[in-house]
Amino acid sequence: MNDNNNLIISKNLSKKYKETLVVDNLNLTIKKGEIFGLLGPNGAGKSTFILMTLGLTEPTSGSISVAGFDSTREPLKVKRITGYLPEKVGFYDDMTAKGNLAYTAELNNIPFREIPKKIDEALEIVALSKNKNQIVKTFSKGMKQRLGIADVLIKEPELIIFDEPTEGLDVKVANQMLQTILDLNKKKNITFLLSSHQLNLMQRVCPRVGILSKGKLITEGTVESLGRNMFGGGKYRIELELEKVSEKIIEKLKKLDKVVNVIRNDNKIQIVCDKDIRQDISRLISAEGILMTRMDMKQDALEEIYLKYFKEE
Ligand SMILES: Nc1ncnc2c1ncn2[C@@H]1O[C@H](COP(=O)(O)OP(=O)(O)O)[C@@H](O)[C@H]1O
Ligand SMILES: [Mg+2]
Repeated sequence: MNDNNNLIISKNLSKKYKETLVVDNLNLTIKKGEIFGLLGPNGAGKSTFILMTLGLTEPTSGSISVAGFDSTREPLKVKRITGYLPEKVGFYDDMTAKGNLAYTAELNNIPFREIPKKIDEALEIVALSKNKNQIVKTFSKGMKQRLGIADVLIKEPELIIFDEPTEGLDVKVANQMLQTILDLNKKKNITFLLSSHQLNLMQRVCPRVGILSKGKLITEGTVESLGRNMFGGGKYRIELELEKVSEKIIEKLKKLDKVVNVIRNDNKIQIVCDKDIRQDISRLISAEGILMTRMDMKQDALEEIYLKYFKEE
């Protein structure tokens, strides 16, 4: 693959705090223009990875670069093209939304005469135009998160790194936030690195995700490919429990349309398939005169991943 298509590249990246490895040999590539979700339970190492990406903390070994700039050696170049929203977005609470953005604009050396227009544009994008002259102290958490986006948009970043974009937001506000991210990605072609422990929410916006657990990248890929791996090659997994199981019934199940694999475990059967074939299965079982005591279907791969890697913590 052409390296120019890659925006963030981490190679054998590790970070130790005292003797504990909190990021463990991470090899990860994030392409230009994509929305990548770094998912994992609390304490997995997501924020530490982000801090190293920005050059805010140094790797113990390995390397990380953004747009070809080594984050450790050239952090200023990385910061110039990157908007960073930390877990707790901080503002001057006694200043207005406009005042805060103006301050950011000045810090970023935006020419004075361009500042009002930039502020209006940024507030428009995050639907806070009406609140321009409102004191930030009176903003809800969701409004502060949106103002955070406006704040990083001021410097027209190529990349936005957002640590826990939906943390502390109710589902509706969280979804609005994610929609804003999708829109920005589409309209302005901004690359996003999002971190989250709420994987159900992220599934909607991140075509590609990496799952981090105890500092290690457990798996990485498109949500669909993760599902296939999780379900042993098919899109769905149907589980049956029968009163009695014969080889004959297993053979018949294998011959059903769209079946990828059939695994027997005592009187339980797992069917990996590419279609919801529960009706076909019911028909077949009852035609054989066998009593079925249970049938469940799993199709939400991230849910499975969640149960496997997140619930153990
Ligand atoms: N500055 C630090 N000093 C010591 N330990 C830290 C520090 N920052 C984070 N850790 C530890 O590193 C691990 C990963 O933390 P973090 O990267 O914040 O995880 P996440 O963002 O996935 O919740 C945790 O066990 C945390 O306690
Ligand atoms: Mg974190």
